[in-house]
Amino acid sequence: MKAIILSGGKGTRLRPLTYTGAKQLVPVANKPILWYGIESIVAAGITEIGIIISPETGGEVKAKTGDGSQFGANITYILQDEPLGLAHAVKVAQPFLGDSPFVMYLGDNLVESQLDLFIDKFESKHLDALTLLCEVENPTAFGVAKVDAQGKVLQLIEKPKNPPSNLALVGVYLFSPEIHHAIANIKPSARGELEITDAIQYLIDIQKNVDSFQLKGWWLDTGKKDDLLAANQIILDSCLDLTIEGEIDAPSKISGRVHIGSGTKIINSIIRGPVTIGNNCHIENCFIGPYSSIANEATLIDADIEHSVILQGAKVVNIHQRIVDSLIGERAQLKPAPQRPKALRFMIGDDSQIELA
Ligand code: G1P
Repeated sequence: MKAIILSGGKGTRLRPLTYTGAKQLVPVANKPILWYGIESIVAAGITEIGIIISPETGGEVKAKTGDGSQFGANITYILQDEPLGLAHAVKVAQPFLGDSPFVMYLGDNLVESQLDLFIDKFESKHLDALTLLCEVENPTAFGVAKVDAQGKVLQLIEKPKNPPSNLALVGVYLFSPEIHHAIANIKPSARGELEITDAIQYLIDIQKNVDSFQLKGWWLDTGKKDDLLAANQIILDSCLDLTIEGEIDAPSKISGRVHIGSGTKIINSIIRGPVTIGNNCHIENCFIGPYSSIANEATLIDADIEHSVILQGAKVVNIHQRIVDSLIGERAQLKPAPQRPKALRFMIGDDSQIELA
């Protein structure tokens, strides 16, 4: 079994962060979203992984993720010249996949890992496609499945106006090589893309073995700010590495589940977990409240932050109102207001500089 992870796309819903970087590299609990997918694939025993990249962000994905040795995997990068759809990405990956069955994982999805159960069902039932489904409140935003009482997929529709169920297609799929034949027989959709949903529907129409698996745990599509903050909260709750490597001075108080990276200095501050702080950060006279992730080289002085994600090299200085539910981009700077505004709520892109006047 091999795996492909799709890491192209424009990330329009996370702009401005994604003007300068790949959406799959935006960190959740200080780790790129994409890496969670790689780790869960490796945990399921698959080590041959192809990552589909785009010309715009492929270099950055490659530079950060490397050849796979840090994950115990062998990663091959596959360039998709244009974003012509998920099924098109599989087509581009065909030389890498050969006639192997494979997992397809969308690089911006975070799924509580059940990949091995999923693979067991696929193999024991000799399936051609296995889709992972999850109940959602807004099915019109996803691919939606109509299934019979046994969970057999009867119909799949991409972003339906009148959804036949509330079961969304999670961005993790398993395929036999039959999918290549299906992709060769479908036409681009109204949005001009080769849809994987249509390719699976083709397999259903020619009576191939298509089944579904209903996800019991959580699933997050991290395409938007609030989804990303929700993902950050779940990951900090469930899998935080609790090591303290930096220096904490005597007046500081650390409580709850906290990670502090090497080279980081915590001076006269209160940190109440779950919180993760990267390497080489400077935190002085701060309150850092639950569900905050602060990336490497950030500087926070005289600041009060909770339930927020601060990216690498950002600076927040002298802001006395509490910053909540915020996503602050790489190297962004927040400076003080002369008078106190009543509330602050941000989504600030990389390289931004905000001065509150
Ligand atoms: C894609 C798929 C959709 C699926 C979703 C999961 O949509 O086309 O069927 O439900 O991923 O994240 P996109 O995120 O590309 O709009």
